[in-house]
Amino acid sequence: MSNRTHNYSIRRALAPVSLGCVLLLTLIAPSNAADNNDNGKLLAERLCAVCHMNAGQGDKTGPGTVPAFAAVAKRQGQTLQGIIDWLKSVPPMMPNHHLTQDEMQSLAFFILSLRDGSTSN
Ligand code: HEC
Repeated sequence: MSNRTHNYSIRRALAPVSLGCVLLLTLIAPSNAADNNDNGKLLAERLCAVCHMNAGQGDKTGPGTVPAFAAVAKRQGQTLQGIIDWLKSVPPMMPNHHLTQDEMQSLAFFILSLRDGSTSN
């Protein structure tokens, strides 16, 4: 008898806690995406900007030239995975930045975010 009452009160006590978890997850999820993009932006500015984020820079104009990230983002059929795969292949014409999987993903997110043209460089 007393045991049942006990269980009941625990469940009642936990209800707000689980509701709190749901709220917390809802709050965290969108800001995570934003963090991912911010992190990619910081990495790009630190590691890639000298080659890929110059004013007035467009797409590649020939062998040995460098495309702007905005141009890379706007390529037809460009995907997040496509950019990640490029980075994973450690292309010989780029310095090896020893990027982690997370960093590659953040960078790819950031590069693709340039597609809408809101940030042209
Ligand atoms: C020293 C200059 C240099 C730096 C620094 C550099 N890259 Fe590159 N990157 C290049 C060149 C050159 C190419 C063009 C390669 C080609 O197509 O011949 C390129 C191409 C690319 C491409 C386009 C591939 C495609 O589809 O054509 C991506 C994406 C890219 N770089 C990402 C990055 C990222 C992310 C960083 C920073 C972590 C970075 N690069 C740093 C020189 C650089």
